[in-house]
Amino acid sequence: MEKTKVKKRIVLVPVPAQGHVTPMMQLGKALYLKGFSITVVQTQYNRVSSSKDFSDFQFITIPDSLPDSLINLGALQFLIKLNQTCEASFKHCLGQLLQEQGNDDAIACVVYDEYMYFSKAAVKEFQIPSVVFSTTNATAFVCRSFLAKVNADKFLIDMKDSEMQDKVFAGLHPLRYKDLPTSAFVPLESIIKIYTETVNIGTASAVIINSASCLESLSLARLQQELDVPVYPVGPLHIAATAPSSLLEEDRSCIEWLNKQKPSSVIYISLGSLGLMETKDVLEMAQGLKNSNQPFLWVIRPGSIPTSEWTESLPDEFSELVSERGYVVKWAPQMEVLRHSAVGGFWSHCGWNSTLESLGEGVPMICRPITGDQRVNARYVESVWRIGVQLEGELEKGTVESAVKSLLVDEEGDEMRKRAIDLKEKLKASARNGGSSCSSLEDFVNSLKMKTS
Ligand code: UDX
Repeated sequence: MEKTKVKKRIVLVPVPAQGHVTPMMQLGKALYLKGFSITVVQTQYNRVSSSKDFSDFQFITIPDSLPDSLINLGALQFLIKLNQTCEASFKHCLGQLLQEQGNDDAIACVVYDEYMYFSKAAVKEFQIPSVVFSTTNATAFVCRSFLAKVNADKFLIDMKDSEMQDKVFAGLHPLRYKDLPTSAFVPLESIIKIYTETVNIGTASAVIINSASCLESLSLARLQQELDVPVYPVGPLHIAATAPSSLLEEDRSCIEWLNKQKPSSVIYISLGSLGLMETKDVLEMAQGLKNSNQPFLWVIRPGSIPTSEWTESLPDEFSELVSERGYVVKWAPQMEVLRHSAVGGFWSHCGWNSTLESLGEGVPMICRPITGDQRVNARYVESVWRIGVQLEGELEKGTVESAVKSLLVDEEGDEMRKRAIDLKEKLKASARNGGSSCSSLEDFVNSLKMKTS
């Protein structure tokens, strides 16, 4: 009798946004290196192009049926619409893949981003094993589970009380209620709706998470208690697998500029792929940065200052403030920047990828979270790992100046850097053979092979 072949294809379904595409492609690369064939199913919006790094990957585009105007809705509203419009096209796509599959690379499972929850219907219909990929961390997941169950009206009333805002969230010390992943830009009802979908993992047999036990062992244990399926912390994936997947063109001239700066002297500033800034905050920042007397590399993404395509609508004062010590680009090769010896600190919105990339290079941070899980991450940077300072409240040039100095000039910064380097070593160890994240990925792969052989 012929032996059944091990099923080898994994279908990935990333969210079409940089902060989600990046870790999904890294996971894809890590699984490819373990011997799986990879198919990436993506929407028309924000597609990853097949580059030499993914030459063996199969890329399939499904129609998302979204008008361009929807892209400006804001991330959560955009995702709610995307999930409504993609369910049928994904079912059709998966049905075709199943018909066409050969014996050697039959689909072993579908790994979908937790925010691409439309995938649940198709995997259930075709009875295909599926796995949820959480691109944030376990602490944020636990918070989302909590928020998914709150009564919106009562929660909003409770949160008007400043004592409640500062109250520590039970079991997740030192996270406060005000650090929970809500948003000032999206109604709480919409947040609850989408969080309910993301924490309900349907028929998925596991959750893979881009985190490591040395970062949040208690939250990982709590998440494991909450879920009936195994949780595999396999992060930081950017250490495990190189998978360049920038959706914007990187301006490499900033590396030449960094080459001319002194070691650990530069503050690198970026608010990720979605963050927006008011003109008054940009000017306040520029003034504080100038007053700090430290060189700075500043990513200002086109469209990130509302009412301006890039920086052209800013008052002339802006160019005067940045001309002496600043270098402004539209998009940078961030991982290379963080690895550069001239970079001594990272001013970040604390997106989870940026946080992991900074931790992975031992770079202390100035945290200015904008929305969602960024607040959770910022709290951890400042109060759990103690490798950064968080700027809360109105942005003001004096606090900007002292935050930059605390990282790059003061003794406090040296202490943070030491702790950051220590954590970097722990993360590198967890990604090496025998390390916790490496073993976790191995366990996941073995469980898949056992289920599908
Ligand atoms: C979003 C959310 O904000 C984040 O909190 C969530 O965890 C994932 O989705 P984003 O805001 O884009 O992501 O931030 P982040 O997670 O930090 O991802 C940004 C990515 O863009 C990083 O991998 C970073 O290296 C990259 N980047 C950013 C560049 O390559 N160049 C840049 O100039 C800026």
